[in-house]
Amino acid sequence: MSINELIKGWDGEYLVVRYERAAEAWIFIAVHSTRLGHPTGGTRMKVYDAPEEGLRDAQRLAEGMTYKWAGIDFGLGGGKAVIALSRPLDEAERDRLLERHGALIESLGGAFSTGADLGVGPELIEVIRRRTRYALGGSAGDPGPYTSLGVFSGCRAVAAEAFGSRDLAGRTVLIQGLGDVGVPLSRRLAEAGARLKLADMDAARARDLSGQYGAKVVAPEKVYDEACDIFAPCAVGGVLNEKTIARLSCRAVCGAANNQLEFDDDAERLHARRILYAPDFITNAGGAIALPGLELMGMSEEAVLASIESIEGTLGEIFREARKNDESPLRAALRRAERVLERGPAAR
Ligand code: NAI
Ligand code: PHE
Repeated sequence: MSINELIKGWDGEYLVVRYERAAEAWIFIAVHSTRLGHPTGGTRMKVYDAPEEGLRDAQRLAEGMTYKWAGIDFGLGGGKAVIALSRPLDEAERDRLLERHGALIESLGGAFSTGADLGVGPELIEVIRRRTRYALGGSAGDPGPYTSLGVFSGCRAVAAEAFGSRDLAGRTVLIQGLGDVGVPLSRRLAEAGARLKLADMDAARARDLSGQYGAKVVAPEKVYDEACDIFAPCAVGGVLNEKTIARLSCRAVCGAANNQLEFDDDAERLHARRILYAPDFITNAGGAIALPGLELMGMSEEAVLASIESIEGTLGEIFREARKNDESPLRAALRRAERVLERGPAAR
């Protein structure tokens, strides 16, 4: 689809589009919904084959943020920024581009706040912050460890539903992607006695971390065939699709990646195979709770951690409802989020 068609066909509220001539890159800021509050979401930066793919990513990720905030009933709106590169940049070019992205956000006068996402770690948030007040990730730091706590809590809910006990000792968890989230998740799971299998495109990264935990290294292309109790996608989106779901050899999926399902229907494929799916926008909300919680809302660290750990209870309720209706947990989670969106912001 062309950029024109993508913009016209979208059900979100508005888009900001800018072409950066010097870097030959596009910036898309997609605001999907302000129904619950101020639109807030990370900035993703990566090379795309075509700018249309970057725009589509921004739109889907912004929609995901709407459901993330609604699913945990947090009074913020859904938005996301994507910097679609046409080629890799050197450090100086990259920093100039990120500064211009910061200036663009600042020019919106607080209409959108951002933070870290794939390709924009906490150190690059610092570069964006040179030019805008609307970038989270300053005092709260890196969202990855908070997100990993949410995914870990999600694994407990999954274990309770799929195996009858929240205890993760002896359970085999396969983590795809060992970055900001995957690394602290590995540590938490190892401490809880889980057996780890680890995969990353960066083979040295997988080898080093596996050495620390006595884990098995799995080649990235073998991930979908590898037997495990829980598969934890913590790399890129779209990894659960018609082809990969047919290959999966796990009892449950619970990970951090945004938009793990290529299409919503893929949740039905998982359900048909009796593979329990923890909806990504609930499971990966830890960083989204921590950043605004600590930096905008004055929550204490203890309150933030407790709120993230409550992801276990939220998923437990979603799994119960899905079991009762013999439906995929995605349906139950979307209904839960839609109830909140219909109600509007909670009274404070
Ligand atoms: P990151 O960029 O720090 O790490 C991603 C890792 O995955 C890298 O080590 C990369 O080499 C690896 N990777 C990429 N493609 C792969 C593949 N096909 N197979 C195996 N490994 C692959 O990213 P981060 O921050 O850890 O985020 C991971 C995912 O979780 C992303 O989808 C992100 O949108 C999502 N997420 C992250 C949050 C955070 O707090 N960082 C919060 C919510 C969601
Ligand atoms: N990008 C992460 C997410 O998708 C963390 C984040 C949340 C960053 C909210 C900024 C704002 O959840």
